[in-house]
Amino acid sequence: MNRVKTGIQGLDNLVEGGIPQGRTVLLAGACGTGKTIFGMQYIYEGAKTFSEPGIYVTLDERPELIREDMLRFGWDLRGLEEKGLIQIIDGSLAKIGLPSEEELSVPASGFDLDKLLLEIMRLTKRTNAKRVVFDSIPALGLNFEKDTDVRKAILKISYLLNRTGVTSILTSEIVEGENKFSKYGVEEYVADGVIVMHYMGVGTQSNRTIHIRKMRATKHSEELHPLKITDKGIKIEKIEDAYEKV
Ligand SMILES: Nc1ncnc2c1ncn2[C@@H]1O[C@H](COP(=O)(O)OP(=O)(O)O)[C@@H](O)[C@H]1O
Ligand SMILES: [Mg+2]
Repeated sequence: MNRVKTGIQGLDNLVEGGIPQGRTVLLAGACGTGKTIFGMQYIYEGAKTFSEPGIYVTLDERPELIREDMLRFGWDLRGLEEKGLIQIIDGSLAKIGLPSEEELSVPASGFDLDKLLLEIMRLTKRTNAKRVVFDSIPALGLNFEKDTDVRKAILKISYLLNRTGVTSILTSEIVEGENKFSKYGVEEYVADGVIVMHYMGVGTQSNRTIHIRKMRATKHSEELHPLKITDKGIKIEKIEDAYEKV
């Protein structure tokens, strides 16, 4: 089986070298745990280090703000967008009915999932994209009135991503401490892997952790691994290193 390296320091060796190619991973965590940074790091590293084009669908944050935030880690998204290695689709304003100034966006006239999926498919073909991030599933929910429609939408997205052959990450905002990985209860079933990010309270040295809850076709670490957000992005530390510092 081929593996797609996330390029996130310390992660790939926890999952036999990377995410199984063509599969979908659910990235779950409370707000502020680093899901957006993780998702963008996956796309950025793919483009920069592995020359693999990627598509980032943002339903939460505006692309302008993401570009600005990621510059803090030294990631020049604009530069890679200009080279055609990164595509950002703006779906952050459609849910509130506002037009986007972005080149790629969901029209303000109303959120149309089929159009968005078509756009992802078209872009995947045109740019030869290998990686897709969909951030976030709960924000997708704002575009539908009924939960059953959101569930159908999630199944559709997952089917399409699988069919296009890209290796993808869906983000899912959950409540810390609750024993749930998703809002709609279907995300973890359609995903081949579930990675959970935690952010425990305040004031301690190593208060961010990550664990791999499920990864089909993979022997994976079952530990809770300390994680740092450094000036170069997310870094997963070895458990022993974290203990040495205490
Ligand atoms: N340059 C940085 N250095 C350290 N921590 C940072 C930096 N930038 C952001 N963070 C941390 O990351 C959090 C935001 O991460 P984000 O990926 O947006 O979370 P999520 O998408 O899970 O809500 C911030 O609340 C902050 O704690
Ligand atoms: Mg986010």
